Amino acid sequence: MTTAPHPVQSAPTQANQQTPPCVMVIFGGSGDLTKRKLIPALYNLATNNLLRKEFAVVGIARSDMSTDDFRKKIDADLHEFAPESIDPKIWERLQTAMYYMPGDLGDPARYDQLKAQLAEIDERHGTSGNRLYYLATAPQFFAEIVKQLAHAGLTREEDGTWQRVVIEKPFGRDLESARHLNQELTQVLHERQIFRIDHYLGKETVQNIMAFRFANGIFEPIWNRRYIDHVEITSAEEVGVEQRGGYYEGAGALRDMVPNHLFQLMTLTAMEPPVSFDANAVRDEQTKILKAIQPMSPEEVLTRVVRGQYGEGVIDGTRVPAYRKEPSVDPASNTETFVAMKLLIDNWRWADVAFYLRTGKRLPCRVTEIAIQFKRAPFVLFRDTPVERLSANRLVMHIQPEEGITLRFGAKIPGPHLNLGSVNMDFKYSDYFGATPSTGYERLLYDAMSGDATLFQRGDMVEAAWSVVTPILDVWKALPPRNFPNYGAGTWGPAQADELLKHDKCHWREIPS
Ligand code: BG6
Repeated sequence: MTTAPHPVQSAPTQANQQTPPCVMVIFGGSGDLTKRKLIPALYNLATNNLLRKEFAVVGIARSDMSTDDFRKKIDADLHEFAPESIDPKIWERLQTAMYYMPGDLGDPARYDQLKAQLAEIDERHGTSGNRLYYLATAPQFFAEIVKQLAHAGLTREEDGTWQRVVIEKPFGRDLESARHLNQELTQVLHERQIFRIDHYLGKETVQNIMAFRFANGIFEPIWNRRYIDHVEITSAEEVGVEQRGGYYEGAGALRDMVPNHLFQLMTLTAMEPPVSFDANAVRDEQTKILKAIQPMSPEEVLTRVVRGQYGEGVIDGTRVPAYRKEPSVDPASNTETFVAMKLLIDNWRWADVAFYLRTGKRLPCRVTEIAIQFKRAPFVLFRDTPVERLSANRLVMHIQPEEGITLRFGAKIPGPHLNLGSVNMDFKYSDYFGATPSTGYERLLYDAMSGDATLFQRGDMVEAAWSVVTPILDVWKALPPRNFPNYGAGTWGPAQADELLKHDKCHWREIPS
């Protein structure tokens, strides 16, 4: 069953207001993130009239380039990565407010130069002394850049200006390093100046989890252990490690996806209603969930967490190589490319409800979803119906690539007997709201410029997330895997991931690939 699309009028909200004047300084200005996401996102904001005309960008990176070369480069990049039709007027205006500074990120003289250039840009573009420093560099430079900025007086909020720093992931590689980085940052910045990004929060459907739960009166009363049997969160990728072997070898699926993206999905699904949509109110509730996750003993890590690495296989009819054969990967690598785990949240709402999480590369399709499995209705009335027909209600929040929500329920199959079948009620975002070009970074940049940190991670949240994951990393380090590779590319991961749920008498939702 599919609901008919109705046009929905968008209400004039504060989202229709423009960002305040500012200069965005991108460290890593010639890199991949800048060209694929940041510049297209700025262009999309400008197209939607959300970006103030008193705005400019300074790209900083090692590559030796003039501002003219930079403008030519981003023009070519935008044509490669942005919507087919670029409005030349809007783009030209934006492009002429983009500057470039080559330089070594550790050289203090660069920051004095930057200071002088920013003052000039303020004069030329009316950017009022406000700055958004975007750290799109390798993580080992985060603390150094922030220290240098502070040393040059570039983070001081004087005369009503604001100075904010956006930090890309990964934020640390375990609890200790995340704590250390937090300490280094907070030596020179206030927490309110730090915007730790998790690009999953830029996805409309992730933001919609809160709207779905808290703007509808009918779901919240059943959103608990009394009615929900378990929750499955899947984030699957069809691609392998691509050209990122160098980074991925030191990260692995657990660090790369779990304490950040998957925990965002989990906390938004499990948190209590916040007292307001104020940044701290929302993040307080998310943090409480992270802190309530039952800590795992080393024995529990062995039984509740599954790791895997892909061997060669076939995806979409094409043979693809094993992880160990990918570029920049050690041929004897023990890095995991798949992880599945069972987590329990020790609070009144969720006690004994399992949250199963899984993520991996080279799985059969690209899909991210949250499946809420409700408990079965009592069997009494349907004693004669085969048990496989008596499926329990399930609500699936589709995050990507399809964005929407599906509710499965039982219905009578037409005929003289009372036979039951399962039907789906589907809501697709695109049917109602159309599809607008988006990189997922528009809202995040808009919010960072507007000073709304709701969709960014707070320091204590990041540490709480690493506290859950670090014991797993410790056990894995002590006991290297002996059976890698243990799943074929194009399959749903190692058999143990299925056994994890079978042991609890359930199974992963079958996702059509
Ligand atoms: C990144 C990870 O944070 O998220 C990548 O480093 C992963 O390994 C990516 O591919 C997934 O993002 P998305 O938006 O494609 O689901």
